[in-house]
Amino acid sequence: MSFALNPRLLTVESPPIPEAQGWRAEYSGAFGPMIDLSQAVPGTPPPEAMLERLASSAGSGDASRYGPILGDGVLREAYTAEISRFYGAAIPVAATAITAGCNEAFVTAMLALAGAGDNVILPVPWYFNHKMTCDMLGIEARALPCSPEAGFVPEVEHAAALIDARTRAIVLVSPNNPTGAVYPSEVIADFARLCRQRGLALVLDETYRDFLPGDGAPHALFADGDWGDVLVQLYSFSKAHAIPGHRLGAMVAAPSVIGEIAKVLDSVQICPARPAQAVVAWAIEAMRPWREAQRQELQRRAEVCRNAFAHLNGWKLHSIGAYFAYASHPDAGRLPAREVARDLAARRGVLALPGPYFGPGQEEHLRLAFANVGVERIAELGVRLREN
Ligand SMILES: Cc1ncc(COP(=O)(O)O)c(C=O)c1O
Repeated sequence: MSFALNPRLLTVESPPIPEAQGWRAEYSGAFGPMIDLSQAVPGTPPPEAMLERLASSAGSGDASRYGPILGDGVLREAYTAEISRFYGAAIPVAATAITAGCNEAFVTAMLALAGAGDNVILPVPWYFNHKMTCDMLGIEARALPCSPEAGFVPEVEHAAALIDARTRAIVLVSPNNPTGAVYPSEVIADFARLCRQRGLALVLDETYRDFLPGDGAPHALFADGDWGDVLVQLYSFSKAHAIPGHRLGAMVAAPSVIGEIAKVLDSVQICPARPAQAVVAWAIEAMRPWREAQRQELQRRAEVCRNAFAHLNGWKLHSIGAYFAYASHPDAGRLPAREVARDLAARRGVLALPGPYFGPGQEEHLRLAFANVGVERIAELGVRLREN
């Protein structure tokens, strides 16, 4: 190569999922088809009525043109109505932006909030793309360790101790990837209070909020008229609407922040992909019963997963919720998690991700993304993970 690459990029870890998916080829087949718990993807495509609309929208001349930087008005309005209903607050359309998925929303948030040499606080275990984003932007991802004893819920006093003059934001993901932990609303409120006191942004990634176990809003941050002083909220249409390939997500922030963020979005996406926007605007209301059925099905899967672990020796299920289970493996303290995960794939046909993909101190753990596997297959974990 006759040119040098950005040294910051070279220090970023490679995307981890392809490595784990490579272990599939090593499976002997002894237990029947592979149970692939590696990636957080919806297990089913969207319903036929939605697929038909997506096809027709993709074939329209209008969807071939550029659209507004912050997303089509029809989707921004439908999404604003939905979050206003869900959080019981009047959120203005000017506080929303549609993005090319929640990952792009996170990159955009980091570009807007911090510069090279600044730091943001990320609870560990973290979502690896958040860490990768920080690394490539020269933003220090300051680790806030979460313990199994605390249900992997971050503790606000520990976060306070990490803040210094270069701290710009605290990032929370609830329901969490990788642990599935759902942070109590008081904990989210405490973090918002801390951020407000210390002049930081609270970046709250709620990609999995449609899969919460209970009814009602998971926090009351929007009830505070000054929410825009502290909150930058991120969301994904990928999971709830089962359209990860269509790349749609959303940000909610004070209108003045969204105005600045438009500069980033114009530079990286010009406009979000258009074909699915009008369809999602329709689906928010029309597909509500389908989404509710998905939510209940995922709870059934979580329950079956919990039961499977209840009868296993050596394994300990520390946390489960929404899409994920996070467990310590029987070789904790003896073998690295990567070796355990690879062996599990090769010998038992269970593909899970090793904890170290999600940050330091995770050697004892594996993440199992149970959302895309039916209950019968999840129930098989009881046999496949048994020691012999
Ligand atoms: C916490 C979290 N944020 C963001 C994303 C990315 O979502 P999207 O497909 O909308 O980019 C994921 C996907 O796994 C995720 O787990």
